[in-house]
Amino acid sequence: MSRIVKLSGLVDVHVHLREPGLEHKEDFSTGTKAAIAGGYTTVLDMPNNPRPVIDLNTLLEKIEIAEGRIYSDLGFHFGGSKSAIQFFKDVETQAFGLKIYMNQTTGPLLIENDQELDEIFSAWSKDKVVMVHAEGETLTKAINLAKKHKNKLHVCHVSLGSEIDQIKKAKKEGMDITCEVSCHHLFLTTEDTKRLGAFVIMTPPLRSKKDVEYIWKNLDVLDMIASDHAPHTLEEKKNSQKPPFGVPGLETSLPLMLNAVNEKRLSLERMVELMSTNPRKLFGLSSSEVGEQTYIEVDLEKEWTIKNEDLFTKAGWSPFDGMKVKGRLKKVILRGRLVYHDEHIFGPFGQVIFPNS
Ligand code: DOR
Ligand code: ZN
Ligand code: ZN
Repeated sequence: MSRIVKLSGLVDVHVHLREPGLEHKEDFSTGTKAAIAGGYTTVLDMPNNPRPVIDLNTLLEKIEIAEGRIYSDLGFHFGGSKSAIQFFKDVETQAFGLKIYMNQTTGPLLIENDQELDEIFSAWSKDKVVMVHAEGETLTKAINLAKKHKNKLHVCHVSLGSEIDQIKKAKKEGMDITCEVSCHHLFLTTEDTKRLGAFVIMTPPLRSKKDVEYIWKNLDVLDMIASDHAPHTLEEKKNSQKPPFGVPGLETSLPLMLNAVNEKRLSLERMVELMSTNPRKLFGLSSSEVGEQTYIEVDLEKEWTIKNEDLFTKAGWSPFDGMKVKGRLKKVILRGRLVYHDEHIFGPFGQVIFPNS
């Protein structure tokens, strides 16, 4: 039995495609293939490359290497740092959001100095989104800075119940604030660390069952699902004293969410809001309604098993390997072209995209 439904092309506002600098983990070609295989027609790439994207030339270089090689559409975020401020005006038409790292994670972009943070929040355009990696207490600081400077604040990868409470409160007060959750924080808990070890080392880390249940209970506070696709090789994860933070997620977010829809944990309409409508709205991307030129088809009844060997990401593994799910991507249509059909990808037909274009 099958039940095929057409949905708007999915948008992932938070991926790490690693190019340039760490192409052994992922590159624009393999990363956007993984996007297409996950039902995403648009993804937005983070700036925490080894040479971080904090000046105009580095951003232009990234755009140039991506052109002609990508399978999904691809846009870029700019990195927050004191030296980046001088380029904020220049990158307004090229970069979607400003990403500020307020806690330690992969890459060199951590900022903890209050004065620097103040200057950065103050200088970024008030019409554009500030995205923060700010966990727990640090989130309070980010909210206060955004209130002070009237920024449009987007909170990346919410993982704690207390973060949900802070965001709920800020929304009630009328603040311009949105947030995302990643599937690893919705479908895994600290208990899975015993089984999965280094593979689930990430920032923010996996949280307690209580936190995860609290997020599910407060799904209405969330604006979107983002994969935080952060590929590292099997060897880096397995054979290291200090394994790098992050897990791949582009190809597993849709199956996990379709499975949750089948389990009646949320409606299909709400899933589309979280994975397409809301991310499009926040970053001003065209609405791509069903019936237009860009859409996906999923089979809600298809039962299958997520397997490492079927993945397109160069990382080649997923913490969800071996999981049985119900609901599978069937087709992806990008600007009228068939780019995915039953595990086959055609292209590259993706385009580099820019804000308000
Ligand atoms: O686990 C993570 N990995 N968290 C981040 O914030 C960055 C990411 C990466 O780039 O590997
Ligand atoms: Zn982060
Ligand atoms: Zn990230």
